[in-house]
Parts: sequence; structure tokens; C-alpha cells
Amino acid sequence: MGVNKEQVLAALEGVASPTGTPLPRTGALSDVVAGDSKVFFSITVDAADVKAWEPVRKRAEEVVRALPGVQSALVALTAERRAGAAPPRPPQAARAAPARAAPRGESLQGVPGVAAIIAVASGKGGVGKSTTAVNLALGLSALGLKVGILDADIYGPSLPKLLAIRERPQTIGGTRLKPITRYGLTVMSIGFLIDEETAMIWRGPMVISALTQMLREVEWGTLDVMVVDMPPGTGDAQLTMAQQVPLKGAIIVSTPQDLALIDARRGVSMFKRVNVPVLGVIENMSYFLCPHCGTRSDIFGHGGARHEAQRLGVPFLGEVPLDMVIREKSDAGLPLVATEPDSPYAQIYRDIAAKVADQLKGAGAGRAAPKIVIEA
Ligand SMILES: Nc1ncnc2c1ncn2[C@@H]1O[C@H](COP(=O)(O)OP(=O)(O)O)[C@@H](O)[C@H]1O
Ligand SMILES: [Mg+2]
Repeated sequence: MGVNKEQVLAALEGVASPTGTPLPRTGALSDVVAGDSKVFFSITVDAADVKAWEPVRKRAEEVVRALPGVQSALVALTAERRAGAAPPRPPQAARAAPARAAPRGESLQGVPGVAAIIAVASGKGGVGKSTTAVNLALGLSALGLKVGILDADIYGPSLPKLLAIRERPQTIGGTRLKPITRYGLTVMSIGFLIDEETAMIWRGPMVISALTQMLREVEWGTLDVMVVDMPPGTGDAQLTMAQQVPLKGAIIVSTPQDLALIDARRGVSMFKRVNVPVLGVIENMSYFLCPHCGTRSDIFGHGGARHEAQRLGVPFLGEVPLDMVIREKSDAGLPLVATEPDSPYAQIYRDIAAKVADQLKGAGAGRAAPKIVIEA
């Protein structure tokens, strides 16, 4: 079943641009990706015209969603920045959101109801960023905070797997999406809507636009903290994302090897460049405990991230060992902090979460136990 590109384009003939031209003939439409029952495309307009185009985007989404065989449609509005022009503002959601003071004194719009957004990032992929993000979110939740997690790793969404989520989010009133709740976390991932292969072909601006919509057109509700699992790397796309999301702070995950540390260093400098405070560095796969004999070995040269953090003048948040249990549980969608809260692994993540919570309260990393009220 499903729908094909021609059917989508035919339907879009009925959607008019602000000047009355049928959308497919405006030249603003990206390639239409129609796979299965999911449709994705973007509309690229001049940054100054974003407001006028937002209703067109909404209408296009409605029209495509109404096609038989379509389960989900995501239409992204992309503001192309002209040389020398100011950076595009994220498209405004239909309902007016109160502008919050951005941590950097810019006019970055917050997400209504969300007190703090923090990024979990890494210089390169495969270092355990998503595993860390999930367990950190659960650790914050165990402290009594209301926590959401957003999978912004659009090129390799991992939350559907790490949290064993197979259902699709429901829409509320046609356009807003209801996030999924798992282990007490409010969860949203582009992976709920689009296949991983589809996401791989997105261009940078489409990614930014999809991210903006996942932030602003999802009913996040009231959250103390939103943890954002960022795509790996420190290139332009990551830099733009770091600029687009109103971040309170960032956490860098690294393995102890020299090469990973060089990338971690780039990560720290990337966030510093956009004035996002680095809340700290976590060393993942820090050391190996043999499951049979209990012997500890430092395969990657343990301690590198701690030294690097000291050198860079950012807090060191903790070490997570390389352990089969972590890998198995993580890949089975059974995150340790939720499923084995009494295990030593869960304790490690909770300690890290306590340090992060402490910093979010402005208490500084050097202080002792966080003054968070834990509900009985
Ligand atoms: N501390 C750890 N010990 C063992 N395996 C781990 C650990 N952290 C992550 N992994 C495993 O490494 C792989 C990559 O982790 P993932 O969190 O997806 O990384 P990233 O998001 O950085 O790509 C996964 O199979 C995961 O289960
Ligand atoms: Mg990942």
C-alpha cells in the first residue's frame, strides 16, 4: 500500500503559495520522499517570507495526510539564508509561544513549558552517546525531575531501539504530535515517523527544520529537563543545531582514546563558540571489567577524558565502564537505570545525573549532593 510521489504532487497542486501559485510550480518544493505510508518534503523560502509560508506548510501537511494510505506526513519549512542576511528564525508555531530569554542573550525562542534543554553530544559516532543520553535522562527522572528526551540524531535515530518503542505518535488536532511515554520519560524521535534510510538523504536545512518542528510542534507538556541526543560530529550541521536549540548546556560523551578526545575537544569548542555552557564530559567505555574473573583492564587507556576535561577547564562528570551488560540491555531496549536500578551501573548514571542536576540549579559542579527533592 502507501502512496507515491506523483500522487503527493497531484494533491499539492491544490495548495497555493502566498501569491497564489500551486505549490509544485513555485520552485520552493524539495524532492518528495514518499516511502510506505510516510511522506516527507520541505519547502525552501526566503528567510523574510517564513511567516507568510507557515500556513502553506500546514495546509500542505494536512492535504498529504488526508491522502488514502498516508499514515504520517512531515513538511518542513526551510528558511534559506541569503549571504549577509541575519540567521533565519525558526518558523513560529501557529500558537504564539512566549519568548524566553535565551541563555546567550539572543532572541532564541524556548519551548513553552520546558524549563531547561540540555544537549548530549559527541565528536564522533559509536561512542555510546545515545546510551548515555537515555540513562542520564532516567537518572534525572529518578531524582524526581520531569524529564523528556528528544532524539535529534536525525541521521541515525536510536531512541526507537534503545527504548523499544514501536508505536507511532498520535496527532492532536491534526498537526501537533503527542510524544510517547516510556519509563516515565516523554520521548520523541524522528525515527518514529521516518525510516532511518529515508533520513539519511536529508539535506542540512531539512534536518534543522524537522528539528525545529520536533521541538515546537510536539506536546511536550511541562518538563524540568529535556535531554537532546544530538547527531555526532562537530560540522556545520551540528553547529547550526546547537545554535537553533535554546540550550542551557551541553554534555560531551567521549571514549578515552586519543582520537576520540580530539573530537571531544572540538565538541567543547563548538559549544563554546555558540556560548552554550559545557556542563561536563563523560568518559564512556572507560575501563573493562571482565565478566568472568572481575579483572579490570584499561583497554582504551582509561582517564583520558578526565585529563582532557581538566585541561579544557570543564567539569568531569564520571566514568562508565565498557560492559557487556550495558550493551545487551541497551540494545534490547531495557535501559539499566530503569530496569536494574539497584545495579552498580545504574548508580554510576545516577551519580552523573546528580551532578548535572546540580549544575542546572546553578549550584556549580564542585558542590556536594544536589538539593533536589525526591518524592517518596
Ligand atoms: N558503556 C558501554 N559498555 C558496553 N557497550 C556500550 C556502552 N555504551 C554504549 N555501548 C554500546 O555501543 C554501541 C553504540 O552505542 P550508542 O549509544 O548507540 O552510541 P552513539 O549514540 O554514540 O552512536 C551500542 O551497541 C551500545 O549498546
Ligand atoms: Mg546514537
